[in-house]
Amino acid sequence: MNSFTQTLLAWYEANGRDLPWRRTRDPYAIWISEIILQQTRIAQGQAYWERFLDAFPDVGRLAAASEDEVLRLWQGLGYYSRARNLHAAARQIAAAGRFPDTLEGIRALKGVGDYTAAAIGSIAFGLPEAVVDGNVYRVLARHFGIATPVGTPAAKKEFSALARTLLPPERPGDFNQAMMDFGAIQCTSAAPACLLCPLQESCVALAKGTVDALPVRQKAAAVQVRRFIYVYLRFRGRTAIRRRGPGDIWQGLYEPLVCDRPPEGARLLQKDFRHQLTHRTLLVDFYLWEPEREPSLEEGYRWIEEAELDRFAKPRLFELLLESL
Ligand code: ADE
Repeated sequence: MNSFTQTLLAWYEANGRDLPWRRTRDPYAIWISEIILQQTRIAQGQAYWERFLDAFPDVGRLAAASEDEVLRLWQGLGYYSRARNLHAAARQIAAAGRFPDTLEGIRALKGVGDYTAAAIGSIAFGLPEAVVDGNVYRVLARHFGIATPVGTPAAKKEFSALARTLLPPERPGDFNQAMMDFGAIQCTSAAPACLLCPLQESCVALAKGTVDALPVRQKAAAVQVRRFIYVYLRFRGRTAIRRRGPGDIWQGLYEPLVCDRPPEGARLLQKDFRHQLTHRTLLVDFYLWEPEREPSLEEGYRWIEEAELDRFAKPRLFELLLESL
């Protein structure tokens, strides 16, 4: 084993995080953890993972659940297509009768890309696959002094090839998770602990004083801004919602009235509320509308009792509107 890998694994044994999905070899549980961690940090992800495994302890239970149940458990994580893919993939696995145990088989699951396939394959099945994510880019760029801008196909190729040469075939899952933890704890983006780093003697960036400059990033594209108005309608203890259709964000989730202009008499609760999504910024005005006579609803909307609202999966933004009521 090369000395980078040896040192890294020793560091991991002493400093690796004790996470519940590291105490199992159940590919289903590991898969769920990886899908959740695509979307959120460990601290929040752990609570979601526990709730998911409580509600759906095996793939059959998840496959048999309704989409609404799955979305409700996912609520707050955002990027709801991931929850739908998770559900669809559970049905793929249940139909096949077993969890796929090859890289190609895992990669063929809905919602599983190269990174996640390598993570599941190495952690659950010991497949000799190296993961490449932001942590891996950072650790390798610094340690080996690589200035290729990350986020390009060329970088992915270069860093994957390097990671593969470092990967110990007998402990690929430990190596990958050690890289993740090392990047998250030791070789962090803003405040790397170089003075206490067990890899300091061989670190090219530390020797050259380029730790802060690596990895090199490409400029991100500008995010789109989208404006709209959310109106919470209240009439005799009921409110109106609709389920969002395909082809846009938040498919399958429920939303209140969405208007170009506020209805007459509606009360402004918040102006220009800024909500950040992955690829866009939303600027939203929130209104409360309590008309005296029953308004007719636009197509797609339905009346529900306000007390029933909890039962519907909602985007975080709608939750925030409810909190401001
Ligand atoms: N991020 C994604 N997968 C992870 C894992 N298995 N452990 C820690 N962080 C992760």
